[in-house]
Amino acid sequence: MNQQPLLRDSELERTSVVANNTMNRERGLSGVNSYARELGFDPVARLAGLERPSWLDLCSGEGHALRTAAGLLPAGAVLTGVDLVGPTARLPRPAGAELVTASLSTWTPPPGRRYDLITCVHGLHYLGDKLALLARVATWLRSDGLFVGHLDPDSFRLPDGRSAARQVLRALRGAGYGYDARRHLLRHEGSADRPPSLPFAHLGADPHAGPTWTGQPGVATYVRPL
Ligand SMILES: C[S@@+](CC[C@H](N)C(=O)[O-])C[C@H]1O[C@@H](n2cnc3c(N)ncnc32)[C@H](O)[C@@H]1O
Repeated sequence: MNQQPLLRDSELERTSVVANNTMNRERGLSGVNSYARELGFDPVARLAGLERPSWLDLCSGEGHALRTAAGLLPAGAVLTGVDLVGPTARLPRPAGAELVTASLSTWTPPPGRRYDLITCVHGLHYLGDKLALLARVATWLRSDGLFVGHLDPDSFRLPDGRSAARQVLRALRGAGYGYDARRHLLRHEGSADRPPSLPFAHLGADPHAGPTWTGQPGVATYVRPL
């Protein structure tokens, strides 16, 4: 049973679990501490051959993966990272990549923009209304685009504090998302004209819920099935 008051996203984003720079925000594109390793594929290889590839990285941290990708992809590539804290290292603004400091609870892409690839590497752990973002993300993809992001299904909780993982995964699968439990990766292929229906009311978030499977603190998302 949850004893903590549940937080709205605007309150959650001011807590030390979410807004801190001690978490691993420095993954590069490839190598030991990298997107390729966490996702099981190299994002640049996925985009190779596309005339004007577009990659949106949600919770992009320092943006190292996008910075490297900008040097490898064609000049017209659209590379956007969005992060609540933004890059903190004193690095030059990357040529060819845009690093936006904003919350994903409110940020939306420019009108009409769609992406070939959307990633969220260990970012969903820190969001409150995870399902609202996941539903919106499906509408930001191109017709053959791919979304992939880490998800701990046990971070969804019912009002009495029990895990809502089973119910949430069933709804996500019914809405066209796939879940690789071994890699803890949620994916969605192809665009949706409107946000898929995920029938849960968002009740609020608990940033003191304890660690995810990663061992790092995460945010529990309380939902009520509709
Ligand atoms: C564990 S770090 C991962 C960063 C990057 N993806 C990487 O692997 O290096 C999680 C990131 O999520 C960001 N974050 C947390 N809540 C967010 C929100 N509401 N909107 C945007 N970014 C958020 C944090 O600022 C942090 O940089």
